[in-house]
Amino acid sequence: MSATLVDLLNAIDSRASALKLMEPGPTREHLEQIMRAGVRAPDHGRLHPWRFVVLEGAARDKLGAAMARLSLVKFPQSTPEQLEGQRRKVLRAPTIVVVAARFTPGKIPEIEQIAAVAAGVENMVLVAQALGYGSMWKTGAAAYDAQAKTELGLTAQDHIVAFLYLGTTALAGTAAPASLDGIVTWPK
Ligand SMILES: Cc1cc2nc3c(=O)[nH]c(=O)nc-3n(C[C@H](O)[C@H](O)[C@H](O)COP(=O)(O)O)c2cc1C
Repeated sequence: MSATLVDLLNAIDSRASALKLMEPGPTREHLEQIMRAGVRAPDHGRLHPWRFVVLEGAARDKLGAAMARLSLVKFPQSTPEQLEGQRRKVLRAPTIVVVAARFTPGKIPEIEQIAAVAAGVENMVLVAQALGYGSMWKTGAAAYDAQAKTELGLTAQDHIVAFLYLGTTALAGTAAPASLDGIVTWPK
């Protein structure tokens, strides 16, 4: 096996969500590298469906407030402490990249444009890992809420594919086995 293939397979095989992240988040230069890897995913029609919103520091509060608001809708009996817990969830990472798909109407189906963005997220995760950072791919109700999207600077029609939490790994996760059991139909 070539060294390049070994490195690639090692990166893919060792990928796991971090269980806990801490400061510091990626530098500006590293964030650019991570997002550039995202836009290298296959993109049918080269429509550039990716949209990124980088949240750091107090800018994360917009997302935290949306998460608390939506949690209250779902659980109207929530205590102030529970809502504060929701609001503070964004503090689980120093940097959150909101990764969205902006659909261009035309020949390329919407699902393919969303798929391009999702493929990009995996590139981002792998490059973040190679740069020494940990990541967590999150979504939740805020990803599907029109008001939250506009509060984050997106349009209500955009599809949020990931809240990509990035930071320095405080507690690493373990990689899931890459099992093909029961999921492949081989030629007869
Ligand atoms: C589209 C998408 C959305 C996800 N949303 C969440 C989420 O909101 N919360 C969560 O705990 N995990 C979420 N996950 C799963 C985790 O990112 C993670 O991949 C999963 O727990 C498996 O762990 P691993 O990445 O270490 O293999 C999501 C994954 C994908 C692909």
